[in-house]
Amino acid sequence: MTIPQLLTQPATRNTDYASPFLRACHRLPTDITPVWFMRQAGRYMPEYRAIREKYSLIEICQHPEIAAEVTMQPVRALGVDAAILFADILLPVIPLGLGLEFAKGEGPVIASSVRTLEDVRAMKPFDAESDLGYVMDAIRILRNELPHNIPLIGFCGAPFTVASYIIEGGSSREFLKTKTMMYSAPEVWHALMEKLSNVLTDYLVAQIRAGAQAVQVFDSWVGALSPQDYETFVLPYSQKVLQAAKAEGVPVIHFGTNTTTLLPLMKRAGGDVLGLDWRIPLDDGWKLLGDDVAVQGNLDPIVLFAPVPEIKKRVHDILNRANGKPGHIFNLGHGILQNTPVDNVKAVVDMVHEYQGNK
Ligand code: CP3
Repeated sequence: MTIPQLLTQPATRNTDYASPFLRACHRLPTDITPVWFMRQAGRYMPEYRAIREKYSLIEICQHPEIAAEVTMQPVRALGVDAAILFADILLPVIPLGLGLEFAKGEGPVIASSVRTLEDVRAMKPFDAESDLGYVMDAIRILRNELPHNIPLIGFCGAPFTVASYIIEGGSSREFLKTKTMMYSAPEVWHALMEKLSNVLTDYLVAQIRAGAQAVQVFDSWVGALSPQDYETFVLPYSQKVLQAAKAEGVPVIHFGTNTTTLLPLMKRAGGDVLGLDWRIPLDDGWKLLGDDVAVQGNLDPIVLFAPVPEIKKRVHDILNRANGKPGHIFNLGHGILQNTPVDNVKAVVDMVHEYQGNK
């Protein structure tokens, strides 16, 4: 079949739940603990670097066949139990008219940062299918290419994390401008979050309708907030995105880092699966959340730079803490870092799959 033909095929939703990843999302028992990695496609892989020599990050995303190929690379090389669409949480910034560039060594740069009510009102109207159709096209290609037991995860940034890039104009350590807007100009903050939650809902629902079989909402930097500020300034907007995705009938993963004090509120905002990072032991985090959600995590990405016996000890510690309870998806606590040895990543997949329990 040619690519244009593929793109007009209706996506079929995976309903047979042969996939251990989808089963774990629903807290059903599995033979093995499913494992995938945030940022499993990226510069630590030679196959990815070969493509990046020819295309920029944004060019990869905008060419559905290339984005699909990059998505497949870790599935082939590592034997993970799920694929994550190759895209970026900041792609919606482009059609919003704010300008996006990934500067070498600097990370994302947003030309027109948003600071005032006029800036919020100047953001362009957004329609996911027409503005980011290339993402939906990549999803449709992947649904035809992936083995039936390897589900495709779609994703978007959560309103807070995307807002932080838009307000700061790029990456930030202190979130000074973001939090200053919250505390000093709450009307601007709420107008921006209202707009972003609508945009991100539209984007995530479009991915599900194109064929994504699960979705993850990345609130990577939300741990910068107190629980009170999370509840007032973030929760209602995340809730809108998470619940709209849930209404589409696929499992929803709600991810953040540094979230130990936020976990109960993040659970209230929504998600069938809550991400845990390494700052909290997996069993303590799961206890805080309760038995009625699944959890994903939580190896420190830097453990992948250690010798294999040390990695194994720490992988087994996490699996022992999960203690065979249905609803654990093995992952890192955050994305794979550049220069991570590929062999160690592959070794973790095998360790998780071969784990025989606490015997
Ligand atoms: O394999 C996958 O996980 C899918 C692809 C993916 C990318 N970005 C591609 C990418 C995903 C899921 C993301 C999400 C993303 N993007 C997040 C949330 C996850 C997280 O890490 O917290 C965030 C905060 C972004 C924004 C972003 N994109 C930053 C801050 C950077 C620069 C930092 C860096 O690593 O260079 C990017 C660039 C980016 N997005 C890369 C990749 C593979 C870097 C590699 C490259 O330039 O080729």
